[in-house]
Amino acid sequence: METAAPSAVIVAIDGPSGTGKSSTSKAVAAKLGLRYLDTGAQYRAITWWMITNGIDTDDPHAIAVAAGKPGIVSGTDPAAPTITVDGLDASGPIRTQEVTSKVSAVSAVPEVRTLITELQRSIAASAEGGIVVEGRDIGTTVLPDADLKIFLTASPEARAARRSGELRGKEATDLAATKEALIKRDAADSGRKTSPLAKAGDAVEVDTTELTLDQVIECVVTLVEEKRAART
Ligand code: DC
Repeated sequence: METAAPSAVIVAIDGPSGTGKSSTSKAVAAKLGLRYLDTGAQYRAITWWMITNGIDTDDPHAIAVAAGKPGIVSGTDPAAPTITVDGLDASGPIRTQEVTSKVSAVSAVPEVRTLITELQRSIAASAEGGIVVEGRDIGTTVLPDADLKIFLTASPEARAARRSGELRGKEATDLAATKEALIKRDAADSGRKTSPLAKAGDAVEVDTTELTLDQVIECVVTLVEEKRAART
């Protein structure tokens, strides 16, 4: 007797930075044999292109006019996700402090969001077997029909400590400054007009403040498995 392949499942994982979104999403996708999409990396990639092409990131009109120019391609293997801009590997440059400080302004421009949202939907639609998509507006705007929506939260202190840990060794870090920058970026991402960072009404909220990464992964894997079981 043939065993049926597990049905394709679409999982949306949203939340502010430092909640363990990327690590959780990658691990859940790898464990369950799903594809993985980091939508923050796409907004960072378009921001990096704007900076390297001399576009004023404080000028929404200039950003809107240029938004369709870069060719952004995301590789969705959770073991080795990739991001290229016009064929160039952008995985390193998109993590610099300069990009991090400018990405909220660029990603708030409606024309940028329309283009990137279309790209995200086409990647999700062609992901055989299903996909975990992480971001800020996946459950609310990009994939409102996702099979499972998770919204990760954590206290600002825990989030700043995790971000500092990630940055250590790469750039000079200071916990208070990291916390301040993170709160500022979240406020910009939550306060923008077009598809702000928000919890979907039907999302499951998981507060990760007191949880280890393994506990968060286990919690999300269980939720996905329950969804899959309920559909068979
Ligand atoms: O997840 P991240 O920190 O790499 O995301 C970088 C920025 O991209 C974040 O500050 C807001 C923006 N972003 C967004 O507006 N919508 C998404 N779905 C994902 C990220």
